[in-house]
Amino acid sequence: MQEGVSLKPYNTFGIDVKARHFAAFHSLQELQDLLPTLRNMPFLISGGGSNMLFTQDFEGAFVLNRMVGIQEVLRTEEEVVISAGAGENWHQFVQHSVSLGYGGLENLSLIPGCVGASPMQNIGAYGVEIKDVFEYVDAVEISTGTLRRFHLEDCAFGYRESVFKHQLKNQYIICSVAFRLSLNPKVNTSYGVIEAELERMSVINPSIKDVSQAVINIRKSKLPDPAVLGNAGSFFKNPVVPEAVLDKIRSTYEKVPSYPAGEGNVKLAAGWLIEQAGWKGKRFGAVGVHELQALVLVHYGGGTGKEVYDLSQAIIEDIQQKFGVILEREVNIY
Ligand code: EPU
Repeated sequence: MQEGVSLKPYNTFGIDVKARHFAAFHSLQELQDLLPTLRNMPFLISGGGSNMLFTQDFEGAFVLNRMVGIQEVLRTEEEVVISAGAGENWHQFVQHSVSLGYGGLENLSLIPGCVGASPMQNIGAYGVEIKDVFEYVDAVEISTGTLRRFHLEDCAFGYRESVFKHQLKNQYIICSVAFRLSLNPKVNTSYGVIEAELERMSVINPSIKDVSQAVINIRKSKLPDPAVLGNAGSFFKNPVVPEAVLDKIRSTYEKVPSYPAGEGNVKLAAGWLIEQAGWKGKRFGAVGVHELQALVLVHYGGGTGKEVYDLSQAIIEDIQQKFGVILEREVNIY
């Protein structure tokens, strides 16, 4: 354990706070050796630090999960199951799978962060969520140090949700995640902008590599690179509301985007609501709303997490007042 370490390099917002204690583990053994110490203090496990906002110094242990390694665990004529260490960089893992011709993860290209975080909030983009290709996760129970395997039915995956964020919160540490990928992949280009990008790329029969490249191009064109501009991707979730709420908004805004969400509900685009409310591209000192994607809050440098948080609160209050919709943060606040 190190003491008083700056977390600036370890969170994609680039917020400069200190952690009272700091450690990293690279294997199951190192993790199990660390557990007795961790049980005596608040702690946070992180991979890429891509979904966290620090509003103050962290008075516990900030622990990096650096368990790496990619293994093929099963192969049939049609499919392959691949397991990746929680500390593997997500995009590199996706590129590795794509380069081997394994289909299923290509729409999730260029998402910042590590493999271990992917099941926590069932990461998703461009018509695919990890639950669609998920096989199992191996995780260590903090109270006992034993390894347990969770299958799809154990994980309660929903839109940016899983059992690890709720019933099992702070009870397990994810060590590796296994995915069932296709050896005869069918590409998913149902998300409109992918079709448009493939057309722009003059691709007619897209391979998974083409789809991955299209997603990379789209993300690069809209989403800021955390290495250049601090951010944590979408700051809010897209809200799911009763159809009556949509009807009310539609009476003023004919073209409000919405997506069916079952049981008389619809999902609204938070980015659209925030843009209509006039926040897109606005800068307030060291923080602001990204000029190309209103769902992304950015930190230009030299600011605090509290400033980002206060901006998010002002947006929530304004959207509630203007549209009667309460936005929920996707990013974890500490
Ligand atoms: N829109 C606007 N203005 C904006 C942003 C979006 O009008 O500033 C409109 C778009 O025109 C479109 C709709 O909102 O009609 C949806 O926009 P987009 O396709 O860009 O996706 P999103 O709903 O803003 C979600 C995910 C992203 C993911 C994309 C693509 C959430 C919270 N975000 O964003 O995930 O990459 O879809 O699938 O669900 C993330 O979670 O960090 C993330 C980047």
